[in-house]
Amino acid sequence: MVTLADIKAARALVMPFIHRTPLLRSGSLSGITGADVYIKAEILQKTGSFKVRGAFNKIASIGKGNVAAASMGNHAQAVAFAARRLGMHALIVMPKTVSIVKEEATRGYGANVELYGENFQEALDHALTLDGYTFVHAYDDEQVIAGQGTVCLEIDDDLDGIDAVLVPVGGGGLIAGCAVAIKEAFPKTQVLGVQAQAAPSAFLSLKEGVPVSTQPLHTLADGIAVGRVGEKTLPLIKKYVDEILTVGEETIAMSILLFMERSKFVVEGAGAVGLAALIENKERFRGKRVVLIASGGNIDLTLIDRMIYKGLLTSGRVVVFEVTADDVPGRLEALAGIIASHRGNILNVVHDRLLADLPIGKTRVIFIVETRRPAHLDEIVGEIEARGYEVKKRV
Ligand SMILES: Cc1ncc(COP(=O)(O)O)c(C=O)c1O
Repeated sequence: MVTLADIKAARALVMPFIHRTPLLRSGSLSGITGADVYIKAEILQKTGSFKVRGAFNKIASIGKGNVAAASMGNHAQAVAFAARRLGMHALIVMPKTVSIVKEEATRGYGANVELYGENFQEALDHALTLDGYTFVHAYDDEQVIAGQGTVCLEIDDDLDGIDAVLVPVGGGGLIAGCAVAIKEAFPKTQVLGVQAQAAPSAFLSLKEGVPVSTQPLHTLADGIAVGRVGEKTLPLIKKYVDEILTVGEETIAMSILLFMERSKFVVEGAGAVGLAALIENKERFRGKRVVLIASGGNIDLTLIDRMIYKGLLTSGRVVVFEVTADDVPGRLEALAGIIASHRGNILNVVHDRLLADLPIGKTRVIFIVETRRPAHLDEIVGEIEARGYEVKKRV
């Protein structure tokens, strides 16, 4: 089992190569959640996530030769980066379905990339068979776990009196290392894991006491969509972690948006689940000093507009509603006038009189409107209804 001494040794080894990331208090997130919120900014880490910590510690222990890994995300970039800095060669196996952005980022850090298989499991099975390469596991490895634990040694050094640390959990490498680093030094601080409801393997495994496999569903937190918690991480989680919480997609979307808008941080879904847990459990954390590990910032830029839009929708700042009305000239202008008179900002309008469910002589207009808060929407819809139109809010 990984010990505090292992994590301290990892720190001495990896620090010359990586950033010591800041722990920043967020006044605005504290205001929104009612907790005293601090953010460990691993988004500012080399390669954009904490993963380089474990990768360096592991690859340095191998020392020379070739390393291989299978990954669709942050681990790929971390292994590529660490191998090059340590003068070694890395081969990363990715499924053929990987996004071009991730493939190119990994090549950009100097690794060879082999595209193999239709999904992650097929890529992983292939990587494990490669001759002449030492395999670097993304989480189920003691050196990797010790490396990830250095995140929380830094938190220990930077802040006193922490009530809880919220840690994103995929295979469990980060939380296993963090839990040792925190509980061995500050047993009263709670260490809480967070997973997406769509991929709850560690959550279920901690409940059952044995590794439970799940088939992850689609989630914005794709970096932690792991089907099975590690064999080496679970015993540490069982020994040290107080609880694992799960969060919904809508709160993850809202959290990505809040990080961007309030903290000016680009945090990927996997890194935003701690804030999502805080939002979903406000009463539990009210007045408590809480650290969120913003574990990575590698959002696929081709998806960022959809994430922002979903976040705006779920926080009620952009709303979609449809109005059914008599199909006579001037209707659209009248409806737009009502919205404008309440200072709603129309972002888009779809006007369709050919829908199958519409009686002849009726028309339907779908509005996408920017509003200030949910009560503002009620004001607008209330007046449209009062003028005799039929309105349906869309979710
Ligand atoms: C951004 C981010 N956060 C958290 C995790 C979870 O790490 P672990 O698999 O060690 O639990 C990952 C894993 O890839 C990640 O990419």
